[in-house]
Amino acid sequence: MLNKVYGSALLGIDATLITVEVHLGQGNKYYTVGLPDNAVKESQYRVSSAIINSGFRMPRCGIIVNLAPADIRKEGSSYDLAIAAGLLASTGQIFTQNLGKMIIMGELNLNGEVLPLKGALSMAIQAKEDGFDTLVLPKRNAMEAAVVEGINIYGVESLRELVELVELGDVSHFRFENRLFTQSLEREQEVDFSEVKGQENIKRAMEVAAAGGHNILLIGPPGAGKTMLARRLSGILPPLDLDESLETTRIHSVAGKLSGGEGIITMRPFRNPHHTISDVALVGGGNHPQPGEISLAHNGVLFLDELPEFKRAVLEVMRQPMEERKVTISRARFTVEFPASFMLVASMNPCPCGYFNHPDKECVCPPGAVQRYLNRISGPLLDRIDIQIEVTPVEFDELSDVRKSESSRRVRERVLSARNIQTVRFNNSGIIRNNAQMNSAWISKCCNLDSSGAALLKTAMKRLDLSARAYNRIIKVGRTIADLDNSDKILPVHIAEAIQYRSLDRGQWSGK
Ligand SMILES: Nc1ncnc2c1ncn2[C@@H]1O[C@H](COP(=O)(O)OP(=O)(O)OP(=O)(O)O)[C@@H](O)[C@H]1O
Ligand SMILES: [Mg+2]
Ligand SMILES: [Zn+2]
Repeated sequence: MLNKVYGSALLGIDATLITVEVHLGQGNKYYTVGLPDNAVKESQYRVSSAIINSGFRMPRCGIIVNLAPADIRKEGSSYDLAIAAGLLASTGQIFTQNLGKMIIMGELNLNGEVLPLKGALSMAIQAKEDGFDTLVLPKRNAMEAAVVEGINIYGVESLRELVELVELGDVSHFRFENRLFTQSLEREQEVDFSEVKGQENIKRAMEVAAAGGHNILLIGPPGAGKTMLARRLSGILPPLDLDESLETTRIHSVAGKLSGGEGIITMRPFRNPHHTISDVALVGGGNHPQPGEISLAHNGVLFLDELPEFKRAVLEVMRQPMEERKVTISRARFTVEFPASFMLVASMNPCPCGYFNHPDKECVCPPGAVQRYLNRISGPLLDRIDIQIEVTPVEFDELSDVRKSESSRRVRERVLSARNIQTVRFNNSGIIRNNAQMNSAWISKCCNLDSSGAALLKTAMKRLDLSARAYNRIIKVGRTIADLDNSDKILPVHIAEAIQYRSLDRGQWSGK
């Protein structure tokens, strides 16, 4: 007798339908076939034990468990529950009529308890697309899946609960109601811009960065407040829309980073990997490819604090993903993709001792040290940072000022209107969503300068000896500043501000 149960396999952040077929026959051997990895093969021990310890009977005959289609690699332990259901069905211990419309996923322990899994949200999306009306998951993952409308989500804690559900077709206390998603602009931020005293020019640069999606580098001495400022960037970005929320949640879910018992992620992620991070941990990879920090930062902020401390080779691997806004990981049998569209904020000291260019302290670095220090950062990475700005420590008077400065919420409102202008501008353009992502065609289409703006830029380029690369970056940032000003045209005043955000192109750092 052959019985079919349905499960789900993850490939990147997408799930695909897997059919679990259980065949009972001659002999006494137990085979699991269909490209299972070791964890799937070992399911026979967990499943047998769980079945017996839950008060059911294991068949005393030959067993073949086939996971189809055979060309998709099946990984991990979360097929246990489907396999157990298939075994119980083929021995007549549960009714089979409800099994055909269910996808069942979860790991079993030897006692028959169901353990959490990764990728529940992707599974729910797939189950619905494939026309199933029920998805049964470990209880801890059910809430996350319940944001998908039009499919019944049940969370179970044991094999016995699964059996009860399959027998009855519905058990209300296992059911997770579809949770309506409401987006709130007034979300609670842990940290707020208003806590940073002074630093108005840096806050403005961060507002520009947020408004146009420009990567930003903060350069300054120890204690100037770089880390404090960078941490507040995600709070001035516009709120996630539902699609962004879902996509970000899927990545975190596949990576097993959701703590469980929570719905979807509604705040822009802020990721802050330490400079000792490996390249795999940063961009993703491994035998069973997992998303890295840049994908966990998708739709949010990646903060690389103390940028020159990161290994050059590690930063180098970010280059392509930053360009494509996704990571592609190729293996012999398959390729997976993880989205990785993030804003980069980085910080660094101006030199090894930290006091180069400091208003009152003296830099004690030997000649050439400043240049060597900067050279530690990969050039192509630096190239992708539109805004570079020097942070000088605030004066005591400013620090002790008790007046509150502007809140993140106020800044976010301006960022949002500038982003709305860009949404209209890039509507239907496919992958370009903000000014930072403009290619040269877009630059020539919507970044024309009037004659005085062009003259100003020309003079600055000469005086500061700026490169052609800097030219395009200034124009893009100028476009964003104009958008913040609600101005169709890029005016000389916008260009003048944009020129200020090229600290590293200036004499002392560029070695000129
Ligand atoms: N503008 C400011 N307003 C309020 N507090 C500030 C400000 N600047 C610095 N501080 C205080 O100084 C502390 C140190 O700042 P922070 O760690 O951000 O400096 P940093 O520039 O990252 O230094 P380092 O180079 O050593 O990492 C902050 O935690 C904060 O308490
Ligand atoms: Mg710091
Ligand atoms: Zn120095």
